[in-house]
Amino acid sequence: MKIAVLVSGNGSNLQSIIDHVTQGKIPGEICLVLSNVVGAYGLERAQQAGIATEILASKDSGLSREEYDIELDKVLAKYEPDLIVLAGFMRILSYAFVKQYEGKMINIHPSLLPKYKGLHTHQRALENKDTEHGVSVHFVTAELDGGPVILQAKVPIFAEDDETILAERVQQQEHVIYPLVVKWFVEKRLTMSDGAAFLDNALLPAKGYA
Ligand code: GAR
Repeated sequence: MKIAVLVSGNGSNLQSIIDHVTQGKIPGEICLVLSNVVGAYGLERAQQAGIATEILASKDSGLSREEYDIELDKVLAKYEPDLIVLAGFMRILSYAFVKQYEGKMINIHPSLLPKYKGLHTHQRALENKDTEHGVSVHFVTAELDGGPVILQAKVPIFAEDDETILAERVQQQEHVIYPLVVKWFVEKRLTMSDGAAFLDNALLPAKGYA
């Protein structure tokens, strides 16, 4: 199976997936790393691993969201991916694009969805004095951060935490659960049907994994 990973920044989740592929833990191939940001460090990580990269700059492109996504689709189509992995790809995707890849596109979001959709999730969890926080991997649907959840990992929030420490704690879990979900998909164990996610035909999110 061919995997395309879309990034906008550091690419630490990309790195974790690269490492799992390299170690043979994910039986697939990363066919492309694409970024909408020129100079995103994720591109360098891909190049160091010998993976093809593409840049489709969104800043000052003059394109509407729909027009950008048509260009994005043209680039992706060249690589014929079976799975699209959004790994810190900080763009909202158009309805048509999402529909086209529904069931084949996953995202990682730094909160325990359905809590804290959108941005600044760590800050919001701290401001609300939550005692736990976490990360979710979900199929991408037309509703922003609203697609069916596949897997979540929880972390505690301690009284002395700041945003940086909490983000680090969450990211450690991201690097564990995202490769696991990619592995499930590549093994053809993970599907989306009627707006729900299934692993080995059992309804997700699963309890007791990760
Ligand atoms: C991750 O923490 C991911 O959960 C978040 O961006 C970060 C990317 O880090 N994604 C979102 O906020 C999506 N709404 P990385 O570039 O080091 O993988």
